[in-house]
Amino acid sequence: MSSSDPNRLVVFDTTLRDGEQSPGAALDVNEKVEIAHALEELGVDVIEAGFPISSPGDFRAVQRISQEIRNCVICGLTRANPKDIDVAAEALRGAARPRIHTGLGVSEVHVRHKLRTTPEEALERGVAAVKHAKTYVEDVQYYTEDAGRAEPEYLYRVLEAVITAGATVVNIPDTTGYTTPDEFGALLRGVMENVPNIHRATVSVHCHNDLGMATANTLAGVANGARQAEVTINGLGERAGNTSLEEVVMALKTRHDLLGLETGINTRHIYPVSRLVSQLTGMPVQPNKAIVGANAFAHSSGIHQDGVLKERTTYEIINPRDVGVPDSEIVLSARSGRAGLRHRLAELGYTLDEGQFEKVYDRFLEVADKKKTVDTRDLETIVADEVQIFFEETYHLEQVQVSCGDHSIPTATVRIRDAEGQVFCDADHGAGPVDAVYRAINRVIGEPNELIEFSIQAVTEGIDAVGRVTIRIQADEPVEENGVERNVFSGRGSDTDIVVASAKAYMFALNRLIAARREAQAS
Ligand code: KIV
Ligand code: ZN
Repeated sequence: MSSSDPNRLVVFDTTLRDGEQSPGAALDVNEKVEIAHALEELGVDVIEAGFPISSPGDFRAVQRISQEIRNCVICGLTRANPKDIDVAAEALRGAARPRIHTGLGVSEVHVRHKLRTTPEEALERGVAAVKHAKTYVEDVQYYTEDAGRAEPEYLYRVLEAVITAGATVVNIPDTTGYTTPDEFGALLRGVMENVPNIHRATVSVHCHNDLGMATANTLAGVANGARQAEVTINGLGERAGNTSLEEVVMALKTRHDLLGLETGINTRHIYPVSRLVSQLTGMPVQPNKAIVGANAFAHSSGIHQDGVLKERTTYEIINPRDVGVPDSEIVLSARSGRAGLRHRLAELGYTLDEGQFEKVYDRFLEVADKKKTVDTRDLETIVADEVQIFFEETYHLEQVQVSCGDHSIPTATVRIRDAEGQVFCDADHGAGPVDAVYRAINRVIGEPNELIEFSIQAVTEGIDAVGRVTIRIQADEPVEENGVERNVFSGRGSDTDIVVASAKAYMFALNRLIAARREAQAS
């Protein structure tokens, strides 16, 4: 989509590409498709769905998103070489509006050390890549990697050449998050003034947050002529992340007086999409994160509370409802019954079939029994655990029991049912209760692996909070998917008992690994 309306900012979401490059944030194909649907409903203009040549999973994600999403441009990333572009074009074949995003570094350090070439050769390679991409699609975006540290004169020459070659969008990234808003704004102003054919392309900005200035730099770029902003949900992305969608969109809306720009974002979807991305990636949102953090609209000091009660705008510049934050006072208990739960889930935007609803209801009763009240964050976690699972479970954990303490040997017993209904009981001991549980599960399932990441967080406040565990395991024997080996699988689980949550997360990862193995054998 090119921005023909000068007051319209194109929102290019790269949660599924740059966002997914966050350490620890790997998503499965089905999870990516689920997020893509949510992004479409949110109203983003462009979804960068992945880097198709990088893995079979990325290829399949771009392919499925291209087939299923009709209201957004679907973009695939490539390096500036014919093979990458051929593969991206194939993955994008079903898209209603496909875009190939290709490019090369433009800073001295990238050209000399990463590409090991000369500026002239790099420029020629970039032009050839655009021409090759144009043989497949009309819409070609060109990234000038590390533009934030490039010689402006060279950047201008590259931009002019790739636009002449047919680039419809040119992306000016601050790849390392090095610039300040004044500098980045000046860089964009220079581009607008010194690239003679710049009016023939949409100018995009892509900022990283290494110095915490990604949103400020993006807005500075937009103030100086960019009409596409590249963003991610919750600011996910390489290293310290990318510019966060919610911050840019709400800054433009709240300070419409300054830039006068519109986006196509339905802001009431911001919070639910943020929660979905956090649940599926297992990447928590920091409580003080602007717009979507748990504390973003919490007023704790007496003076502030008094002010907000008298007049909301004394301390609130955004109405939480405008970004879809649910009314926090709505909590459910076991007495709320099916109708109350159904009503609340519908309010939160979940559409569940009867089978899914019953699973959620059973789990809701379990949680309500242990912690008396169940709030929105608990419900989101229950739905993620019971419904947002996109593979078939081979083994089901029926019971886990542990004994531990400072003078005892941590010991665990588990009861597991397989797909045929056979029940297995086993026990083991370990260095701690979680280790003991994982060893006992291993004795039943026998899928050799190593636990490479384990994190735990409380979903809500209080001693009775639900704990959420996210793990990654590395299988000893990798699964081959279309000629590429995969051996890391993530899992998640929640419970008011953190050892049980840990057991569920492990079962999730093992079931996911077994399902992938089964699928690989079948294909
Ligand atoms: O940060 C960056 O430069 C990128 C490009 C690939 C667009 O992510
Ligand atoms: Zn990036």
